[in-house]
Amino acid sequence: MSRASRTLSLGALVAASACAGRVGQAPAARDGDPPSNILRADYAGSESCAPCHPAIHAAWQRSPMHNMTRLPHGALVHAPFDGAEYRYKDDRARFERLGAERYLEVRSAGFGDHRYRITKVIGGRYREDFAGVEVTGGASPGGREEILPVSYRVESHAFRVKGYSVMVGERPGLRAGGVWSQTCVLCHNTAPLFESLWGALYGAGAPAYQGVVVDRLLPVDRRLALAVTDPPALATALREDITRLTGSTPGGEDPHRLLAEAARTLRERLGPEGLVEIGIGCESCHGGSRAHVGRNDLLPSFAPRAPFLEVRPPPGQPPPTRAEWINRACARCHQVLFTRYPYTWEGGLRRHDPGGSHITSGEARDFLLGGCARQMACTTCHDPHGADDPGRLQALATPAGNRVCVGCHDRYATAEAVRAHAHHDPAGAGGSCVACHLPRKNLGLGYELTRYHRIGAPTDQARVEGDRPLECALCHPAARVGELVASMERWWGKRYDRRKLLALYGDLGAPVLAATAARGRPHEQATALAVMGDARLPGATPALAAALAHPYPLVRYYARRALEKVRGAPVPVDLEQDAADIRVAVARWLDPTATPLAAPRPPPNPRPGRIEADED
Ligand code: HEC
Ligand code: HEC
Ligand code: HEC
Ligand code: HEC
Ligand code: HEC
Ligand code: HEC
Ligand code: HEC
Ligand code: HEC
Repeated sequence: MSRASRTLSLGALVAASACAGRVGQAPAARDGDPPSNILRADYAGSESCAPCHPAIHAAWQRSPMHNMTRLPHGALVHAPFDGAEYRYKDDRARFERLGAERYLEVRSAGFGDHRYRITKVIGGRYREDFAGVEVTGGASPGGREEILPVSYRVESHAFRVKGYSVMVGERPGLRAGGVWSQTCVLCHNTAPLFESLWGALYGAGAPAYQGVVVDRLLPVDRRLALAVTDPPALATALREDITRLTGSTPGGEDPHRLLAEAARTLRERLGPEGLVEIGIGCESCHGGSRAHVGRNDLLPSFAPRAPFLEVRPPPGQPPPTRAEWINRACARCHQVLFTRYPYTWEGGLRRHDPGGSHITSGEARDFLLGGCARQMACTTCHDPHGADDPGRLQALATPAGNRVCVGCHDRYATAEAVRAHAHHDPAGAGGSCVACHLPRKNLGLGYELTRYHRIGAPTDQARVEGDRPLECALCHPAARVGELVASMERWWGKRYDRRKLLALYGDLGAPVLAATAARGRPHEQATALAVMGDARLPGATPALAAALAHPYPLVRYYARRALEKVRGAPVPVDLEQDAADIRVAVARWLDPTATPLAAPRPPPNPRPGRIEADED
């Protein structure tokens, strides 16, 4: 894009803003709202909240979100830094401790030998990742903290290649990839929201950097617009941030150029000292609250505010509600849709009309795409200040959890109404609102499925004709395509295109899960395999065994977990090797006289060996 047109896009925003007050759509500030809550100077840090909010502060200190990023000294670290070794293909990694310091030593046939001192421990609920600086030979450029190539799986006490938690192709060996401060910082720590808005303020063609807000990934009618009401004040704020990051003051007044410079500078220069605090702090969600600390009647606001900024609802739409602002606060981070895996739910493509995300960490964006996000907030079901009790979350997906929904959808408050609506026994598993409307089909962090947070219906045209498996099959694991479709057409008066269904499943008489495992896109296959495992489906072994060598390693781990459930015993196949070697090992395990199994149809875009710096 030419500079002139880029300048114009900001100019257009500014011009549009001139009449905003008269249109009257901009959310009015409440009395007592802080004038500004996104700039560095607006942030006070979580410790300043402790004296007046001691209970919340104490709960939050124990919460996984807060403890997401830890400095290794004195922190809880699950991985055994006691000389433990991880072998991946021809490479080895060794976890060691010397005095107070922890080290990872990597010996790679392809990428050489490296020794790293651990500087950050990330996660720990399901897995731990590590950042470190190289301390031997070719030290990291500028002592940069790199993302180390091995993760630790807490539940199974096992190591695994970092990156295999998302849909990436098989890697040739162990190599550190990505600079911590450029890829993982803004979603796992506390930084001024202003920094996350630069991309959106710039508009199309903004320099890429982590942590950009979610709106461009929403449909046009759900995007908020950021209007700059005072360009010189924006320029001043940007110059201050660039000065803080570089130590020298940039010239120029043009906010558009300064936005690009600020984004590039953030990518290059942001270090731990540039954060408000390490880990997720109160103000990650509540916004900068310094004004409130000083004057308690100035209440924190989930809506971003700055003297030079106005947030506009989409044309013709009312301003965001409080629930929507909360959901958007969560969407700063729970919006992951950024590995290069090409597919989304609703038959969408990541680069073009993206649907919902197939994997955990996209919950808030998914939720914003769905039905209730203007009125229902994440906090209806989740405690923002502490870890959720898993039993309580599971109970939401039973008929007892329906009370959450019928508070608003009161016409489904009686058992008879649910029976008529859902065509299932209102007291049974098929009578749960959450079970049907937040289907359990996404890939969670622990090789178990988790809930897809886009509230829609299992009968939605895009889902039935664009996605596998049919959501009904999540509870009806042996059902065939034709019978489920016929029930949906009969009960809810729907009509589905048989050609599209045939293209998806090959045969309307086919069992939904088996056909998905055989023909689905990789994320669809993983879902089907996991459901087969949960259902202990007899006869699933061949499909699950074949998927142990799937081109996407994440699917291999799901397949192994499912296979262990079906067989009720550990699967003695080493997955830390080439697909070809896995196939041989699987064949030998199943039947010492058999020839190796055929691999599943390779996906169109596996990108083997690629190191993706922007994965989660
Ligand atoms: C000096 C005491 C004090 C400190 C420090 C303090 N608060 Fe408060 N906070 C209060 C009081 C008092 C209220 C209730 C105010 C009211 O309802 O009018 C409150 C209310 C709140 C609310 C509820 C707002 C609403 O919309 O109802 C939030 C959120 C909050 N504080 C967050 C924070 C955060 C985050 C920090 C630290 C950055 C913090 N507070 C620091 C005293 C404090
Ligand atoms: C766009 C925001 C975003 C970015 C960028 C991001 N993550 Fe995450 N990450 C998340 C969210 C959200 C979750 C929580 C998902 C859940 O609980 O289901 C998460 C979860 C994790 C977990 C699992 C935590 C646990 O306790 O099991 C690890 C480890 C992790 N991320 C590491 C990283 C690393 C390393 C990077 C940089 C390469 C990174 N993430 C970049 C948003 C992000
Ligand atoms: C992950 C996001 C998140 C973090 C981190 C967070 N809060 Fe909250 N907090 C919320 C949300 C969302 C609400 C509103 C809940 C609602 O109204 O449903 C809230 C509500 C509150 C309230 C209002 C009273 C209440 O109990 O609901 C106070 C006070 C508060 N938070 C203080 C804090 C303090 C202090 C911290 C840090 C120690 C903190 N919060 C960290 C999201 C967060
Ligand atoms: C600054 C980024 C960030 C924001 C903002 C954020 N989250 Fe998270 N959230 C994370 C990360 C990272 C994890 C992974 C922590 C882990 O598993 O160790 C996580 C984990 C979670 C979990 C699973 C762990 C638990 O605490 O039970 C839930 C649920 C959750 N977030 C809900 C929310 C909600 C609701 C909001 C908004 C009120 C929110 N998050 C805002 C980054 C964020
Ligand atoms: C109607 C209730 C409901 C609402 C609203 C809701 N969730 Fe959830 N969420 C659940 C349930 C139930 C699960 C557990 C899924 C499972 O384990 O089967 C879950 C799981 C999660 C997880 C994974 C937790 C883990 O242990 O890995 C995250 C993260 C999460 N939700 C974030 C959010 C965010 C962010 C929002 C708002 C944008 C939100 N949720 C709104 C019900 C809800
Ligand atoms: C705080 C109020 C509120 C709560 C609680 C609530 N919803 Fe909604 N829901 C709404 C609103 C508002 C809409 C949008 C209605 C419209 O567009 O006409 C909606 C729409 C829907 C839709 C239609 C979606 C679509 O794509 O057309 C479904 C399905 C739905 N809700 C299910 C649920 C379920 C299941 C629960 C409980 C987990 C729930 N709702 C809880 C307010 C709520
Ligand atoms: C067995 C699955 C199932 C269960 C259980 C279920 N629904 Fe639905 N729901 C559907 C289907 C299918 C549709 C779409 C119907 C259509 O398009 O005609 C739907 C549509 C909706 C809608 C949007 C259309 C409307 O009626 O306004 C809402 C709201 C809704 N459901 C709420 C609920 C609530 C609340 C519960 C729990 C009390 C619930 N559902 C339980 C399957 C279910
Ligand atoms: C959360 C789990 C769940 C979901 C989702 C679900 N069902 Fe069911 N279904 C059940 C259970 C349990 C029964 C048996 C008792 C009952 O509820 O009527 C059942 C019964 C049935 C029956 C009666 C015959 C039989 O197989 O027992 C049909 C037909 C059926 N479901 C079709 C569907 C269709 C079509 C969908 C998708 C729109 C669907 N179900 C979604 C759990 C579910």
